[in-house]
Amino acid sequence: MSLATEADELAERAVTRVGSAETLDELRAVEVEVLGKQSPLAAVRQKLKDVPPEDRRDAGQSLNQAWQRVEQAIADRRQSLEVVARDAQLQADRLDLTEVTGGPRRGSLNLVTQATYRLEDTFVGMGFTVAEGPEVETDWHNFEALNIPKAHPARASQDSLYLDFGEPESTLLRTQTSPVQIRVMMTQAPPIYSIMPGRVYRKDTPDARHTPSFSQIEGLVVDRGITFGDLAGTIETFTGAFFGPGTHSRLRPAYFPFTEPSAEFEITCVICGGTGCRTCSGTGWIELGGCGMVHPAVFESVGIDPEEWSGFAFGFGIDRQAQMRHAIADMRILFDNDIRFINQF
Ligand code: DAH
Repeated sequence: MSLATEADELAERAVTRVGSAETLDELRAVEVEVLGKQSPLAAVRQKLKDVPPEDRRDAGQSLNQAWQRVEQAIADRRQSLEVVARDAQLQADRLDLTEVTGGPRRGSLNLVTQATYRLEDTFVGMGFTVAEGPEVETDWHNFEALNIPKAHPARASQDSLYLDFGEPESTLLRTQTSPVQIRVMMTQAPPIYSIMPGRVYRKDTPDARHTPSFSQIEGLVVDRGITFGDLAGTIETFTGAFFGPGTHSRLRPAYFPFTEPSAEFEITCVICGGTGCRTCSGTGWIELGGCGMVHPAVFESVGIDPEEWSGFAFGFGIDRQAQMRHAIADMRILFDNDIRFINQF
């Protein structure tokens, strides 16, 4: 057999062998096997010097071609094995974040926000608009304009959180949403039919029934010829629309500086339906909030003529609605961000 034929056959076998390498490591070993010092092709090369000088050139060329064929086969195989290896690496490096987070989770609105939206829907359905005011308020809007003068006991009972800003005790976190009434009346001409939900602040120590920040909703109607009957009718309509057709309201005399006459309004206990239970202390009624006819002094402080216009206002806490609706024993859980609680809504 000529040296050229022998080289060809060895190259053929080497190329097949290269093709069978499945990993880069295996390919390195195969390379040593087919082209290394101990390889059959290297042995054939050794024999070149025994070839007669006149044939040596051709034989040398054939040998080189066979060698290059094998080298090329190794390079090609290396390239494709590298692609495979890179893919495998990428696959292995992939971070499966769904394992960390437990898969995508849907959030939900805080129960107080849900109650606020439902209240807004109910009043908007009755023809009211929604207004908002700032949480940082002036003493004038929060108290003075609402007919609550400096020495008034209502100020002490509300335990205000004053800010270190301007004159001492001139700026505070609003203690009620009633100052938004003042802002609405100062920027809008009557007729006014508005509700004003928002967060208020009081210096309360948190317990099962109190949190230092909570939400209220305020209502204000100013028009010609508005009477106490309109107030009672509006509250009754709202009660049925919001709490359900079986729920009714009643008014009891009360005192607020910014309304005259003033009343507290109560609704049929939503837990027992009026028969008496622990929530309503056996009375069948639950106190919801305050209301009354807008005091002439309040109209005067915002420049509305009490001879031409009359109106009523009301206000109540929103958190309590969420609490009753979901029978929540401790108010603080509304703000704890405890996932076991949040996940239920
Ligand atoms: N602002 C009162 C409070 O925080 C609630 C209130 C009572 C609002 C009577 C009113 C009202 O608008 O007429 O206790």
